[in-house]
Amino acid sequence: MPLNSFQQDILKAIPCQIPPIKEYDLEVNHAPKRKDILSMEEKKLALKNALRYFPVDQHKELAADFLEELHKYGRIYMYRYRPDYKMYARPISQYPGKSEQAKAIMLMIQNNLDYAVAQHPHELITYGGNGAVFQNWIQYRLTMKYLAEMTDEQTLVMYSGHPMGLFPSHKNAPRVVVTNGMMIPNYSKPDDWEKFNAMGVTQYGQMTAGSYMYIGPQGIVHGTTITVLNAIRKIAKNREDITGKLFVTAGLGGMSGAQPKAGNIAGVISVTAEVNPKAAQTRHSQGWVDEIITDLDELAARVKQAKDKKEVVSIAYLGNVVDVWEKFDEENIYVDLGSDQTSLHNPWAGGYYPAGLSFEEANELMAENPDLFKKYVQESLRRHAASVNQHTSKGTYFFDYGNAFLLESSRAGAEIMADNGIDFKYPSYIQDILGPMCFDFGFGPFRWVCASGNPEDLEKTDEIACQVLENMMINSPAEIQQQMADNIQWIKGAQQNKLVVGSQARILYADAEGRMKIAEAFNEAISNGEIGPVVLGRDHHDVSGTDSPYRETSNIYDGSRFTADMAIQNVIGDSFRGATWVSIHNGGGVGWGEVINGGFGMLLDGSDDAKRNLRMMLHWDVNNGIARRNWARNENAIFAIQRAMEAEPLLKVTVPNCVNETLFDSFF
Ligand SMILES: NC(=O)c1ccc[n+]([C@@H]2O[C@H](COP(=O)([O-])OP(=O)(O)OC[C@H]3O[C@@H](n4cnc5c(N)ncnc54)[C@H](O)[C@@H]3O)[C@@H](O)[C@H]2O)c1
Repeated sequence: MPLNSFQQDILKAIPCQIPPIKEYDLEVNHAPKRKDILSMEEKKLALKNALRYFPVDQHKELAADFLEELHKYGRIYMYRYRPDYKMYARPISQYPGKSEQAKAIMLMIQNNLDYAVAQHPHELITYGGNGAVFQNWIQYRLTMKYLAEMTDEQTLVMYSGHPMGLFPSHKNAPRVVVTNGMMIPNYSKPDDWEKFNAMGVTQYGQMTAGSYMYIGPQGIVHGTTITVLNAIRKIAKNREDITGKLFVTAGLGGMSGAQPKAGNIAGVISVTAEVNPKAAQTRHSQGWVDEIITDLDELAARVKQAKDKKEVVSIAYLGNVVDVWEKFDEENIYVDLGSDQTSLHNPWAGGYYPAGLSFEEANELMAENPDLFKKYVQESLRRHAASVNQHTSKGTYFFDYGNAFLLESSRAGAEIMADNGIDFKYPSYIQDILGPMCFDFGFGPFRWVCASGNPEDLEKTDEIACQVLENMMINSPAEIQQQMADNIQWIKGAQQNKLVVGSQARILYADAEGRMKIAEAFNEAISNGEIGPVVLGRDHHDVSGTDSPYRETSNIYDGSRFTADMAIQNVIGDSFRGATWVSIHNGGGVGWGEVINGGFGMLLDGSDDAKRNLRMMLHWDVNNGIARRNWARNENAIFAIQRAMEAEPLLKVTVPNCVNETLFDSFF
């Protein structure tokens, strides 16, 4: 069949003629201008680095354009090379290529850059303000071409968005190996990212942005629902008590946009503050938040009314969250549950907007006077924390949502430390909720994408997954019954909740056994011709994928939470057990230098190879983390690993002997 224009464009990669300049589209949500951090010599280096993708006779014209981008935006995105075709996950059959696995990866890359999915699509940022798929459009174009040309005897090597090239390998090797932001540890401070990213030699891949596994806000709705639901369970004695409870938080961005939807699913009143009108309107138009209010008095009145009527409603407040906390304190509006999902992993470059400045003023100040902007942020954080403290003194249950709110507030000198001066006053959602209730048992954000792009395939996979979980639940131990029930309820409501944005994707929390059984059932359905191929994956924010002392591994209390052996072991182990692609990142969620995280993708095509790979890889991908959590003496993980060893005789894990604390009475 002749190639269509999209396929031809992919295979052409870099056009022979320099394309015309593209107008800066103000309709699109753009990344903030990054700070001007490079010296003159470093700017030259950044230009030389960008120009090495192009023939020498084009350098003069492109150099002028790229330098202008560097001055205007703080980065060289090569906007003029942005393709003209629509960016979205096409059905796998529409991609040119020789390898089905490579085509599946192309589909996932395009999904991460889809305008309905990506936060700053023109800057190749999927979420979190700086979570990049590539650093510039030429890297995108080259990568797509490599993928379209490669065979199952090659592996594409990705260095922070840059496709280093195709290397000979074998059919059971990963088709793509991704590293993002890997630094020599001493060069992993936030300003190092600013500098080396501006130079074009590294990028912040967040978690599923740079690993092509983002599935829009749905990916996070489920985790957020579980978190909000279990947080509410901590403060409500029974289901009836939940109605009329008020949840206050901030952020309607990439992940944070899931909060109002989760609030609705959990059955509460939620108020989510958001300073960026575009972000608020996007979530409103997608049906993720019910109402937008722009005036504080109106907000207070609306919340009082919702409380009186015990409504289930999600309200976006267009403005600063600090103002909301302070207003509710003044008005004596009792907040049951509080959190925050501003992007404090990236506090100085647009992740957190300080109170007292308009959105526009803040954007200007962070680029023009970063030092003064930093002062505003820190002052705002002190006010923010003080107001939260005021509410918690009245009984509000506040938890850190893994966005480094407590960390950055403490660095700003806010009153946020516990009496012992070591811990924070408030728990992270992992310490209190997801860690002990999910990760230690192996439950985590398993996901899949129907590569046919057919919604009916997704419906069938939902049914298959539900059936598998219901069968498993019959013999599940009491310890995990709640988890199983929550997930069955989730998958039953998934179609009705219209969660799909972008590719035909689904997420649910499952343990190792659940993931393997669901994947095996999918593979069988593919082999029987009931559904098309399926891509499996997960969020990096999982049992084993991420070492992050203030988030995923914050409930590790043996001192090892500052190590990253688990995440590194995980990605190595996945890569030789059949993953189609693997990735390992520095930074993601809590910030550059604060976390190491990895993930995988796996194409199920109904073959026996896929069956063997899924069993081997998914088993390792969960049990690695349970083994480590067990060694850290986490009670639920000790239970889970013992169960896993009973089910699989080849698994032999070192189990800790827990010391009786009274032993030390005579020593200390
Ligand atoms: N949802 C989860 O499960 C989860 C888990 C772990 C961590 N996180 C963290 O949550 C944070 C948010 O992630 P995201 O993808 O939504 O980022 P994002 O940058 O897309 O969204 C954050 C939003 O907060 C808004 N904002 C910033 N300061 C504000 C302020 N003072 N008042 C009101 N609004 C403000 C921004 O305009 C932005 O739209 C990240 O740090 C992420 O790592 C989320």
